[in-house]
Amino acid sequence: MEEEFWVDSWAEGGSRTSFHLRRVHPHAELLAERVPLEGRVVLVPLCGKSVDLLFFAERAERVVGVELVGRAVEEFFAENGLSPTEVDEGVFTAGNVTIRNQSLFDLGRGDLGRVDVVYDRAALIAFPEAMRGRYVAKILELAAPGTRYFLNTLEYRPALDSPPFSVGPEEVVGYYGEWFEIEHWVDEVQPGHRMVEKFGLEELREHGFLLRRR
Ligand SMILES: C[S@@+](CC[C@H](N)C(=O)[O-])C[C@H]1O[C@@H](n2cnc3c(N)ncnc32)[C@H](O)[C@@H]1O
Repeated sequence: MEEEFWVDSWAEGGSRTSFHLRRVHPHAELLAERVPLEGRVVLVPLCGKSVDLLFFAERAERVVGVELVGRAVEEFFAENGLSPTEVDEGVFTAGNVTIRNQSLFDLGRGDLGRVDVVYDRAALIAFPEAMRGRYVAKILELAAPGTRYFLNTLEYRPALDSPPFSVGPEEVVGYYGEWFEIEHWVDEVQPGHRMVEKFGLEELREHGFLLRRR
């Protein structure tokens, strides 16, 4: 999606930011159960103001979120009672949580240092098909061999032309299979998901994958 779409979404709030959850996502909990995070650096691309950042901060050495929209970054720190320091232009740190207020596409490997785990909730699926190749290429650039990459997607019918877009297991293999080993951890039909009623969907499944960079 174009940058303006997200700036407008955060300015409007309400249903435009209903992807934001008040509680830790169960997939973050599952990841922490199965992959030791102690001493690890966790990268959260397209982090919004997700409380998952704090969940990982309690368990990992460091958490780095990347978020395009300044308003989301400000709200994250304010709503969690944190006073960040701007350690570099657009780079805000409080304790072991850093949020880089920039486009993921402008981020290079050299900006980050070590990354052990990538946590992607509603990031790949935030982009329409035409932009997904660019996102996948960026993940490949940022994830060195051995990096664990947890990927959450939604798969639903009929297709919608706004985010979150539908991405199922076959597409995940198509995007990443050449470079990552892929374990399909979660495949859950969710009749009560907020999108089912809102968009009159026939079916919605939430997936969780654990990828490991070869
Ligand atoms: C669907 S939301 C997911 C937010 C978060 N992962 C969560 O679980 O709440 C996508 C987020 O990515 C941000 N975003 C969109 N394009 C981006 C880009 N190119 N670089 C960094 N952030 C971006 C949007 O502002 C929005 O906050």
